[in-house]
Formats: sequence, structure tokens, C-alpha cells
Amino acid sequence: MPFPLDVPESVLRKRRSEKWQAYPADVLPLFVAETDVLLAPAIRDRLAAAVADGDTGYFQEIAHFAGVCARFYSRFGFDVPEESVVPVNDVGVGVRESLARILPAGAPVVYTPPVYMPFGPWIRRVGFSPVAVPLIDHDDDNPRLDLPGIERALSEGAKGVLLSHPHNPTGVLHSDAELAELAQLAKSYDAVVVSDEIWAPLTMPGVEFRSFLAVSETAREVGLAVSSASKAFNLAGLKCAFVVNGNPEKFPVRRSALSGSTGHFGALAGEAAMVDSVDWLESMRAALASNLDLMERLLAEHLPRARWRRPDAGFVAWLDLRAYPGLGDDPAAVFLDEGRVALSPGPAFGTEGKGFVRVNFACSEEILTEAFARMGRVAAAH
Ligand SMILES: Cc1ncc(COP(=O)(O)O)c(C=O)c1O
Repeated sequence: MPFPLDVPESVLRKRRSEKWQAYPADVLPLFVAETDVLLAPAIRDRLAAAVADGDTGYFQEIAHFAGVCARFYSRFGFDVPEESVVPVNDVGVGVRESLARILPAGAPVVYTPPVYMPFGPWIRRVGFSPVAVPLIDHDDDNPRLDLPGIERALSEGAKGVLLSHPHNPTGVLHSDAELAELAQLAKSYDAVVVSDEIWAPLTMPGVEFRSFLAVSETAREVGLAVSSASKAFNLAGLKCAFVVNGNPEKFPVRRSALSGSTGHFGALAGEAAMVDSVDWLESMRAALASNLDLMERLLAEHLPRARWRRPDAGFVAWLDLRAYPGLGDDPAAVFLDEGRVALSPGPAFGTEGKGFVRVNFACSEEILTEAFARMGRVAAAH
């Protein structure tokens, strides 16, 4: 059982977070993007010391933490200036505030379904109108941005593009060539690109992530990236993320206005993660790759008609179950009802997701194996 995904279910069942509380105890939860790990030791010790000292007040060391983020993010293809980093409360806040502070009221904003389900609601929540430009071939080996479709939307008035890079749920990394062309398009139509890069640290071993901001000078002129240690180190509840503002002279996304609501515990944990837990991160990436190998075998055994591509990054897999028509448009509902396995429903990611499920495979081998055995029995019964 590869460390750190070797935590027994009896420990996990005590958790009060969404993954372990949303469903009754007979359900195996492979849905929301939390991971079944114990904290990296440096993070655990940092938080324990803060608890022991009663250090539970407001987040203060904004410039210091911005430097930590800048140094960590510089691994993704360019030298990140400390001044360009703006700590925020979470990635959703970073995305929404970036859009809200830059775009004119009511502007159309492009997003690329099937994609992380809050993207449309996030765009709407800050007063803009989402324009769906679906990925090309999300269901095949080579999902990619529909650049002509994005250009059409920009020529019709869209002023923003919200990317998921690495892309949730397909796990694809958009190529440098696609991103550089997107940057050119954004420049030509005076639009901004907000690149949600929350999954960046979790590439599969041997795969390198490059930020949208790393692909060209033009990308930095038109773009902002938003990321966090929260997915890689399972810190989502501690509320801490950061924006990298590619063009601080142009985009009014500033620490003074946005950093106050950053979680103090999130920043303490984030620093222990990004500075002191890089070896632990390597173990995590290796464990996820090992689980992918296991999943490949489990799929062949239990769901041999499923189609999927191995993600380049992250811990979710996008399974095409349309070859099991008996499972219907929303196979997750059937697996939950009849198999007591909770997955993310494909249709929640956009109409393109009918007949798909998203599996969170950041769990122990035992749980993954049992979940696929249950899903196989359900599929065979339909
Ligand atoms: C692409 C993407 N962005 C953002 C989030 C959530 O981030 P936060 O909780 O920091 O808003 C997730 C969570 O799974 C995600 O997949």
C-alpha cells in the first residue's frame, strides 16, 4: 500500500469533513476532491505548535507568505516576482475577485466544459455571463481547447476566459502551443485569461506542469493564475490560496484589498507544505501513479467497456460509461443507489458529461478495489 494513501478506513470515518460526512457509513466516498492522507509531518507539527501556543488570530504575514508562494510557483516555468503574488481566501475567491476587479459589468466570460462544476456559477455570482466553449474531444485521448470557438466568442464580445489547467475533470495539461495562441487571442480582443491552476503540483511522475503565465510574455500581459497548496496537501478547509497577477500595472488585483480574509492556519500550513514538504509531495505523486495503475487493472476486470485516458495530473479520472447504456445519463446516481459508492456525476460538469462519472482515486488500495468491485456488480446487473 503506497504511502501516504495508506490510511485505514476506521481513521477516515472519524473525519468531519465533507468527503466523510456527506453520505451514510455504508457508502464509499470517491467524490469531492479531498484526499485520504494524514498531514505531511511538517504541516502537522506547524499546526500543532500554533494550537499549543494559542496562535489562532488573524493572518498577518502577507508579504512573507507571498514570498513563499512566489518561490514555490517559480518551479512552474517562470520567475514569479514576489510583488505579483496576492494571498486570498480560496481559489474560488481568487477567480471571482480577479474577474470582478478587471472586467466591465455584465461581460461574457468563456469557460470550457466539461469542467469543474462551480465555474458557471462563479462567473454568474460576480455579475458576468458564462459562455460555454466545450473542449474538443473531452472523451478521447487528446482533449484540447477549441481555439476557433474561443475566438468566435471573443469576437462576439466575451472579455474573459476562465481556464482549468490542469483540467478538471479530464486531467489534461493544455499544451504550450494552445496556451500561447490563447494568449494572442486574448490580446487581440482585449480580454483577460484567468487560469485556475489549483492542481499544478500534482502532475504524474515525469510530467512537468507549466503555468499559463509561463508560456509567453503575452500570456503575462493578459493573464492571472490562481493556485493553492490545498489540493496537493489536503488543506482545503484551512482557506488559503494565492493569485499570481501577470500584469500588476494593468490588473487591480492587490493584497491590500484581497488578502485580509486569508486563513491564518491555511498560511501556516501552506508555508510548511511549500517549503518543508516537497519530499512528501513526491511520495504523494508516486502513490497516485500507483493507484492509477491499480485502477487500470480494476477497470479491465470490473468495467471492461469503460473508456478513459490516464490523467496527466491530479487525482480524478473521467470515465466514459456510455457503453453501459443501462446505467443511463447519470451512472453516479445508479452506483450510489445500488452499489453504495459515491462518485461525482458527469452531467454536473456540463451536458457533455452525460454517461460519465468522475472518480476520486486518492484513497487506499482497499477502498479503490472495493469501490470498483461494487461498481462492476452494479454494471453487470444492468
Ligand atoms: C479546478 C478547481 N478549482 C477550484 C477548486 C476549489 O478550490 P477552493 O476550495 O480553494 O475554492 C477545485 C476543487 O476541487 C477545483 O478542482
